[in-house]
Amino acid sequence: MSKNSKGRALVTGASAGIGAAYAQRLAERGHDLLLVARDRARLAALAACLQAEYGVDVDILPADLTVAKERARVEARLAGDAGIDMLVNNAGMAVKGSLVEAGLDQLEQMITLNVLASARLAGCAAKAFAAKGRGTIVNLTSILALAPEQFNGVYSGTKAFLLNLSISLQQELAPLGVRVQAVLPGATRTEIWDRSGTDVPEDILMEVGHMVDAALAGLDLGELITIPALPDMRDFEAYTRARQNLAPFLSGRLPAERYGVQVESTP
Ligand SMILES: NC(=O)c1ccc[n+]([C@@H]2O[C@H](COP(=O)([O-])OP(=O)(O)OC[C@H]3O[C@@H](n4cnc5c(N)ncnc54)[C@H](OP(=O)(O)O)[C@@H]3O)[C@@H](O)[C@H]2O)c1
Repeated sequence: MSKNSKGRALVTGASAGIGAAYAQRLAERGHDLLLVARDRARLAALAACLQAEYGVDVDILPADLTVAKERARVEARLAGDAGIDMLVNNAGMAVKGSLVEAGLDQLEQMITLNVLASARLAGCAAKAFAAKGRGTIVNLTSILALAPEQFNGVYSGTKAFLLNLSISLQQELAPLGVRVQAVLPGATRTEIWDRSGTDVPEDILMEVGHMVDAALAGLDLGELITIPALPDMRDFEAYTRARQNLAPFLSGRLPAERYGVQVESTP
């Protein structure tokens, strides 16, 4: 740990894009880091650069999070290193094309990374942070969690999973002193577009540094859900209220009348 450390943040997908920007901004804020991704050389170069620039301690843990054995090394470090008090659950991928066009193996890999690995790491952090009564879990979801009409439904589904997980985890962990934040970026300028072979209109692309600065500002404000591009958060609050207003009516003993189901009266 560095001398004036603000604790150590484990950032997944730190070799590029949003994860690398988080690593830089967190180092600037005085956090020590544990950087995870597959590309060892890129992680090592970033670690050396951040250590030199900000004087924080930066460790790397190269791992493919879709491979159980490699993921287990990250989970073990998260569970066993008492200095880690923040998880930026960021590593993720997209695929080209619609559900019909995309390869099934690619879809499986995406679900393994975006859902399975993210859920396991969030679960692991939840246990470790709850045990010490402090810590922060940041889950990188996407605005597509709210807009499934706009993209491949398996990708947006993985992001909706992370949004639900975040809302539920926050309820469970807040009383135990642990914070949860779900970040919903819109289109952001990173390698994900080239990697997935997807075109994106320039006029909606946010610069990655701006996106991460907004996400960290949302974290500082105590937000559970941060949507960097949304101009007026009251619109999202109205959406949440409308959703929550449905809750009392979603379970019932009888089917709704409109389905015309004949129900024999009970004696
Ligand atoms: N960019 C956007 O427009 C946007 C919008 C909404 C949400 N998001 C979400 O933001 C997160 C970061 O995306 P990004 O745009 O920064 O993507 P990116 O530039 O493609 O970076 C992805 C990062 O994840 C790592 N990664 C990929 N597969 C991995 C694996 N199997 N195991 C471990 N690490 C892996 C990559 O490093 P290695 O190749 O070295 O492993 C890289 O560091 C993702 O969850 C994405 O869904 C992005």
